[in-house]
Amino acid sequence: MYNQNPTLEDVDKNIDEKRQGEALVLNENQGGKKFYIESYGCAMNFSDSEIVASILSKEGYSSTRVMEHSDLILINTCSIREKAEYNVRQRLREFDKVKKKNPGTLVGVMGCMAERLKTKLLEQEKLVDIVIGPDAYRDLPGLIATAEDGNKGVNVYLSREETYADISPLRLGSNGVTAFISIMRGCDNMCSFCVVPYTRGRERSRDAYSIVAEAADLYDRGFREVTLLGQNVDSYKWESPDQSENVNFAQLLERVALVSPELRIRFSTSHPKDITDDVLHTMKAHENICKYIHLPVQSGNSRILELMNRTYTREWYMERVNKIYEIMPDCAISADIITGFCSETEEEHQDTLSMIEFAKYSYSYTFSYSERPGTPAAKKFEDDIPLDVKKRRLAEVIKVQRDVSAKHNQKDLGKTFKVLIEGNSKKSELHFKGRNSQNKMIVFPKQEGLGPGDYTYVKVNDITSATLIGEITTV
Ligand code: 5AD
Ligand code: SF4
Repeated sequence: MYNQNPTLEDVDKNIDEKRQGEALVLNENQGGKKFYIESYGCAMNFSDSEIVASILSKEGYSSTRVMEHSDLILINTCSIREKAEYNVRQRLREFDKVKKKNPGTLVGVMGCMAERLKTKLLEQEKLVDIVIGPDAYRDLPGLIATAEDGNKGVNVYLSREETYADISPLRLGSNGVTAFISIMRGCDNMCSFCVVPYTRGRERSRDAYSIVAEAADLYDRGFREVTLLGQNVDSYKWESPDQSENVNFAQLLERVALVSPELRIRFSTSHPKDITDDVLHTMKAHENICKYIHLPVQSGNSRILELMNRTYTREWYMERVNKIYEIMPDCAISADIITGFCSETEEEHQDTLSMIEFAKYSYSYTFSYSERPGTPAAKKFEDDIPLDVKKRRLAEVIKVQRDVSAKHNQKDLGKTFKVLIEGNSKKSELHFKGRNSQNKMIVFPKQEGLGPGDYTYVKVNDITSATLIGEITTV
């Protein structure tokens, strides 16, 4: 369920689930107005909620973890699969009960569902007072005022420029060690199954200086890991207003890595068509850039990839994987996989299974295809794979991945890793948890003098289902 300190992996694992069920208390003040916020979907939504929290705090709001105590309930929504939208509608039923008890409480729907459904949402969900799309968050105070006057507040304008570069996010639910930094917004890729280009608009990159400044500020405040976020980070491209300077993703990575050797850098999500050798060499050159790449394959079959408009083939993807392991033999790769896309045959599905073995993913995030209204796939192709076949193929993908992940973990037995301590292990106060560079969680007994935000070396001596177990050692 809800994780106080979600990392990118926790967030993605629960992609259809609530992630910030109980919003976090930021100096809960006595008299002032309070907001309660829940986030669903991808890490980008989580990051956006922190921008909204910052905007609201400037308006004198503080955050509460108790929905019933709030003047404003916000839900940051996801449209990526039908189930994600269903979950949000269920939550709105719960909010309805609170609103009946406290009629003054406002309910706002943010994010992708707000953008996709627009005013339709107000007709369908009578209790909703505010509908606000991902590029309109600066307008939230105005929309609150409109709603307080008894009118519905709606802004779903998609911008070509908005990056919220000047807004310093309020770190919700922070563990004080790891944080997200949003480096770009939107997506221009138009994968045929995906609703994101319609809900988040055109791709735009944030000012490189503001990104580096945010990383440096986090470092000064004791954070030791940042994850650079974008729908397709490899196409990051920023040009200074006077056009004297261009920064691509490899260059941005390097600039952030130079903030401090003690600050770890992660990033997500990479696109196989765009990840360059330059990025791989930059990763190799800097010890503090984590050796982990989330490289969604979606399908292992070239015909399906073409229907998906992924713009690479099976062979292209394999070449990228080979290159990653050639340049960084210790790098871990994870993927997103969709089963049962339109017209996928059993043989084509087998190509996905063999790709998992070829790429030796440490983990994959697996989904069965869910048709989204308005997407190119919904318009052009029939969603013709029966649900039971989609689910059976999904189970096969999960099974193969489980075996591949187990082998991946087995290889770590006896090895020593540099680990960044994130906090207490979930199960025991006597143990810490932390991640290695490859993004694997390791649990190990505490040692005096060490705490969250410190690095230590841990030798892996056991494995439970998905967690490595170890003990502190010297190198
Ligand atoms: N059906 C199933 N999975 C989807 N994804 C995106 N759109 C759909 C859809 N319509 C998956 C992709 C993407 C991840 C974030 O969600 O694998 O990489
Ligand atoms: Fe969707 Fe493809 Fe863009 Fe990812 S890269 S957000 S899957 S369109």
